[in-house]
Amino acid sequence: MKSISLLLTLPAALAYIWPNPQLDGLEDAYTIAVGFAANGIVDSISPCTLSPGDSSDQPPSGTGRQTVAEWLRTAYHDMATHDSATGLGGLDGSIGYETDRPENVGTAFNTTMSFFNVLQTSHFSFSDILSLGVTLAIKNCGGPSIPFRPGRIDATEAGPPGVPQPTESLETHVSEFARQGFNATEMIGLVACGHTLGGVHQVDFPSIVTNAITPDNQEGVVHFDDTFGVYDNRIAVQYINGSTVDPLILNSNSDAAIFGSDGNQTMREFAGDSDFFISRCGELLERMLNTVPSSVQLGDVIEPLTVKPYQPNLFFNATGGLQFSGSIRIFGTSNEAAAANPLDMPVKLVWTDRHGTSSPSYTTPAVSADFLAATSLFGSLQFFQFDVDLDTSLGISSFVVDWAYDAQSALTTADNGGAGFPFQDVVVFQHAASCHGAVNKNSTINAVIRNDMGTVSNAYVDYHFTSNQQGTLAFKQNTIRTTLVHAGNSTSPLYDTYSASFVVNDGFLSVDASIVTFDLVAVVGGQTYQSLDNPQLFTPC
Ligand code: HEM
Ligand SMILES: *[C@@H]1O[C@H](CO)[C@@H](O)[C@H](O)[C@H]1NC(C)=O
Ligand SMILES: *[C@@H]1O[C@H](CO)[C@@H](O)[C@H](O)[C@H]1NC(C)=O
Ligand SMILES: *[C@@H]1O[C@H](CO)[C@@H](O)[C@H](O)[C@H]1NC(C)=O
Ligand SMILES: *[C@@H]1O[C@H](CO)[C@@H](O)[C@H](O)[C@H]1NC(C)=O
Ligand SMILES: *[C@@H]1O[C@H](CO)[C@@H](O)[C@H](O)[C@H]1NC(C)=O
Ligand SMILES: *[C@@H]1O[C@H](CO)[C@@H](O)[C@H](O)[C@H]1NC(C)=O
Ligand SMILES: *[C@@H]1O[C@H](CO)[C@@H](O)[C@H](O)[C@H]1NC(C)=O
Repeated sequence: MKSISLLLTLPAALAYIWPNPQLDGLEDAYTIAVGFAANGIVDSISPCTLSPGDSSDQPPSGTGRQTVAEWLRTAYHDMATHDSATGLGGLDGSIGYETDRPENVGTAFNTTMSFFNVLQTSHFSFSDILSLGVTLAIKNCGGPSIPFRPGRIDATEAGPPGVPQPTESLETHVSEFARQGFNATEMIGLVACGHTLGGVHQVDFPSIVTNAITPDNQEGVVHFDDTFGVYDNRIAVQYINGSTVDPLILNSNSDAAIFGSDGNQTMREFAGDSDFFISRCGELLERMLNTVPSSVQLGDVIEPLTVKPYQPNLFFNATGGLQFSGSIRIFGTSNEAAAANPLDMPVKLVWTDRHGTSSPSYTTPAVSADFLAATSLFGSLQFFQFDVDLDTSLGISSFVVDWAYDAQSALTTADNGGAGFPFQDVVVFQHAASCHGAVNKNSTINAVIRNDMGTVSNAYVDYHFTSNQQGTLAFKQNTIRTTLVHAGNSTSPLYDTYSASFVVNDGFLSVDASIVTFDLVAVVGGQTYQSLDNPQLFTPC
């Protein structure tokens, strides 16, 4: 009995302990849709009909293209070369090397690659951020919430061909889907779950679509159903009641053959029950996104953390004062969370000093502001900013967050699974005299390291950046490790200055510095201290 009641108190998915560099960026990208700290994925697909490069506050470009449909098709074509017998291929970004194949006609693939490659970081692959983008896109169009697992690894070359084409026979389609790991019933489902968005482009399939090009529809798109901007079962409803507009039924036979291949049973179920369509598509698309080479092990489902620090940062000012600033994100799915006014929410940080000691004075409020407004597709979230002067000699080792949704409620303590949010003050990045170089130029990163804790036996910077690679638009991740060399005293008598200079050049075809981050690591008195994932906010050299 005891173990049962214990099980019932466990949350649906276990939250991970912050910080986790492998997961933090993806968790942010999953949780923060629009506003402060958002990465632009959801903005570029809101509304669901938006075309690549368009934004909701400007007149449409009139291409007729639909970004979400292109992302979903890209993910399917990337996965479609999977061989369930050999375990090779799957959602691995190999599509980037395969865009010149007849089975991948159209500019959708490279446009999608170019959108997501600039969101890659050293902590997750192109195929992970593409899969996450598809997950958000389906949800944002009114479709299912698809659980997202991280851990996809990008291919470094093309895989074998194998994407179904509309000219192929039903038997060929059935065997292609079987190779991908989907039986004949699941094939019907997956095609319907894809062909509820977007359509067929005349410029790419002139034998299927004709006379569709107009100034407002420059690529001549004919949609699969009458609600291409909503993730719904209209593809099935219209098919079953004889009002379909799907060009792969009217002007070609592939959708007709597939949809009718079980005597219309699946499509009838989809047409009759929109909730069933949504939930079945959620399952099938989840399997599609999780179809990866057998050598790849995906991680646990990412769920939004309830309370999470965002870019907490220590900094020495010009007179040697130690400042601690950053933001706190609070996420919830309750009605209370949805109704909360962040201006009325009490939120405060309570820290322990570098000796692990508490004091009533070790606290500071975190406050809301207009520019911190943000939304999530999965619940409500609020950000709160803090900025406090620390006593340099006492420093900091961890903090918790005491908070409530309104001033009347008792405060809850968010303690990151028990031990608080760890935060070290031993190795600290210094903006002053730090600068990043363009390609072939010197970059310098300055840090200060505490000088009363024993010998600094090792200290270095890991500088992470992306570079172009031949044959695909997905970026390659690179790391340059450079020793931090003792450079003298600092503005604080308790810290010495260290400096690393390095050149980002040869061997890298080209560098995209927009998503550079760097880690500082120092081994002091035999203990390792890390300042991870510092964003490149400092100035060019
Ligand atoms: C036998 C299987 C399939 C065939 C023959 C097929 C064929 C096609 C064709 C010819 C187009 C038009 C592409 C263009 O004009 O750009 C298209 C579009 C699309 N397909 Fe499929 N497809 C199949 C399965 C799937 C699956 C399983 C999915 C995803 C789950 C999917 C998702 C899409 C989407 C979202 C579009 C719209 C793209 C856009 O509007 O840009 N397809 N498909
Ligand atoms: C496909 O698998 C599902 C179970 O996932 C099963 O219900 C269905 O009958 C199978 N269809 C075929 C044609 O084997
Ligand atoms: C099909 O269903 C839609 C509404 O669900 C309706 O507008 C349309 O008239 C129907 N067509 C036929 C042929 O029944
Ligand atoms: C399936 O539905 C389509 C469209 O309504 C129809 O043309 C076809 O005859 C049906 N097939 C069967 C086997 O009922
Ligand atoms: C530096 O920080 C200290 C406290 O940490 C503060 O008293 C002082 O005003 C700050 N100086 C500057 C120039 O910001
Ligand atoms: C980069 O800067 C360091 C330190 O100032 C210097 O030793 C090195 O020669 C410079 N390298 C280049 C390529 O400029
Ligand atoms: C997509 O980009 C790759 C890499 O630049 C290029 O080799 C390929 O030809 C492009 N494909 C299309 C269809 O433009
Ligand atoms: C740093 O050392 C230099 C001499 O090496 C000294 O002139 C300067 O005052 C020191 N600065 C601080 C902040 O201690």
